This record gives sequence, C-alpha cells and structure tokens, in this order.
Amino acid sequence: RLQPVLLSGGSGTRLWPLSREAYPKQFLALAGERTMLQDTWLRVATLAEGAAPIVVANEEHRFLAAEQLRQVGMEHAAIVLEPVGRNTAPAIAAAALQAAAQGDDPLLLVLPSDHVVRDVAAFQAAVRAAIPSALDGALVTFGIVPESAETGFGYIQSEAGQSGERGVRRVLRFVEKPDAATAQRYLDAGDHYWNSGMFLFRASRYLAELERFRPDILAAVRAALAAAQRDGDFIRLDKAAFAASPSDSIDYAVMEKTDRAMVLPVDIGWNDVGSWSALWDVSEQDAEGNARHGDVIAIDSHNSYAYARRLVALVGVDDLVVVETDDAVLVAHKDKVQQVKEVVARLKAEQ
Ligand code: GDD
Ligand code: MG
Repeated sequence: RLQPVLLSGGSGTRLWPLSREAYPKQFLALAGERTMLQDTWLRVATLAEGAAPIVVANEEHRFLAAEQLRQVGMEHAAIVLEPVGRNTAPAIAAAALQAAAQGDDPLLLVLPSDHVVRDVAAFQAAVRAAIPSALDGALVTFGIVPESAETGFGYIQSEAGQSGERGVRRVLRFVEKPDAATAQRYLDAGDHYWNSGMFLFRASRYLAELERFRPDILAAVRAALAAAQRDGDFIRLDKAAFAASPSDSIDYAVMEKTDRAMVLPVDIGWNDVGSWSALWDVSEQDAEGNARHGDVIAIDSHNSYAYARRLVALVGVDDLVVVETDDAVLVAHKDKVQQVKEVVARLKAEQ
C-alpha cells in the first residue's frame, strides 16, 4: 500500500506579502489555477489508487486544508493537526504512527505541498521505480541535478559508477543546507544532487531510524498521538505532548545520519518555489521576460514579476518584483528576494 503524506505546515515567509501566517503559500494558487496543495494531491491521486492522503498541517489551517482537498474530490483525507510547528521530523513521525496504527506497514510517500512539478508522468514513473528499494528498507530520496550553489537545499552525494536497480543509488553523504563555499564545491564536483524534499520509505523504517537517532522526538510524538482528540477527519495532536517535542527537520534528524539512504535522480520539472524569483521562473513570461499576474501593464520593462490585485504599471524597470495586495506592497530587486523573509522578521519583532 502506498500512503501519500502531504506536509502542509510551512509558513513560506519568503513569499510575503502574499504568503501569510494565516494563508501560507501551499494554500495559494501561485503557479496555476489550483492551489499548490491541490496540485500536490492530484499529482499522486492515481498512484495512491484510492487511498486517502494523510495531511499534516497546523491546527489554524484545518478548514483551508479540508476545503481545498474537497474541491478536488478528496472528501476524507486524514488531517493530523499540529498545535505548534515542530518542523518535519515530528510531522512525519505523526503521519507514520497514524499510518502504522492501521495495522499494516505502508510505504509512505512524503511530499511537501508547496512545490511545482511540471512533468507529472515522469514524477509518477520515478515513484514507481523507487518502490522496490523502499520495500527493501531504504529511505529513498529523489535527487535533482543542481543548477547553482543554492544554500537552501540538502545535497546528496551518490555512490559513483553503475546505478542499482531502476536507477536508485546508494547515498554516500547527505548534507543539509551547506554554507555557500561547500555548496559551490559540491556543485563543481558534479556528483551531488539537490534533495527535492520528497521521500519514500516504509512507515516502520522511518520510525526505526528516528528511534535510533532522535528517540526524544519519537517519544514526544507518540505521546501526542496517543492523547490526540479525534474529531471527524481531524486528528488533533495533544498540545502539551507535541509542544514538548524538539523541533528538527527530517533532513538533520535522520537523513544526514542514516546509512540506509538511497537516491533516485529525477528530471521532473521540479521547482520548490522558495522565492519570488523562483516563482518568476516557473510562471509564463511574455516576450520581454515579464511574468504578470492580474492587471499589469509593462512598458519598456524586462524580466520582472508583478502580482496585482488592483492595477500595476511597470515603466522602464528591469529585474524587479512588485507584489501588490490589499494591505501591503512589495518592491524588490529580483536578485535580493531571499531577504524578503527579513521583512517578516522585522514585522514580527515590532508586534
Ligand atoms: N506539517 C508540517 N509541520 N509541515 C511542515 C513543517 C511543520 O512543522 N515545517 C515545514 N513543513 C512543510 C513545508 O510546508 C514544506 O512543504 C515541507 O514541509 C518542507 O519544509 P521547508 O521548511 O520548506 O523545508 P526547506 O525548503 O527549508 O528544506 C527542505 O526542502 C528542500 C527542497 O525544497 C529539505 O528537505 C531540503 O533538504 C530540500 O532540499
Ligand atoms: Mg521548502
């Protein structure tokens, strides 16, 4: 059984002012007509063969998650609700324990709900190709050929030489978010992949690895699920127990440490839409390289991204990001969009 797990608890602060605490990017239709959560589900629905996904989200977003899935025909997702964010290691543990409670030991296909995947057929073929290794006890990652020395990703060095069954290779080393110089070295070496953030493994395998490396996280999540309140499709993790879990990502907590990691290199048109420039990249552009969302006029302007609720006009500007919403306006240089999260930090500090 293939059990999709949709991680939907991120806050997406680099896409401010559109992505907000109350409305983070996975719930927005940024790169098409459907929201990213909806696209994520539709991408795996056929692979799941009728199984409902387990969605792990912040309690605050329960109606958004349930309603958006209903709109694309998924009426009965199990929605695990976190009272506070504790990052992905605990979130995936909650999903694994919830899945294992059903008696069998399904393969968990863990998916961030805020990525763009252009080639859905290639994505589905990759998941199928990874299944035998995952059944054998591997923690399978899906590797992306890196394009730059990006520091916001995990880097995976795979074993050289012949690839194993169906292109899946053993992982020699997994390094989460290296510094810029290290990332550049990995890029130059040519034998590293970016971690796409999608994983395939047996529920029991993940729980065993977490027990080995972070028993504190596993114990806290176990307690939080045991004391959870069930309310229809919502599974509300116990607040005190879950809050007691350390906060850590699967990448640091498990993937950097395990000796059972494998990587399947994929070419699926992946983009994590981590910033406004990444969104510009995946958006349709006019002949001048401008991506326009809403009512936007561009005159003598190039390679810019504009999002407009009202009317926005660009005149004689290049490489700008302009995002206009009901209560905030962002004007940023396209090369500096990583710093947008500093705006959010400052707003929080001033609150
Ligand atoms: N339920 C839940 N709870 N989901 C969460 C939480 C949480 O506390 N924190 C993050 N998520 C979700 C996010 O919404 C996103 O879909 C996914 O988990 C990954 O979290 P990010 O915070 O976006 O991680 P990242 O982008 O810094 O790094 C990860 O993804 C990269 C690729 O985009 C890592 O796996 C990297 O190794 C990887 O390269
Ligand atoms: Mg991310």
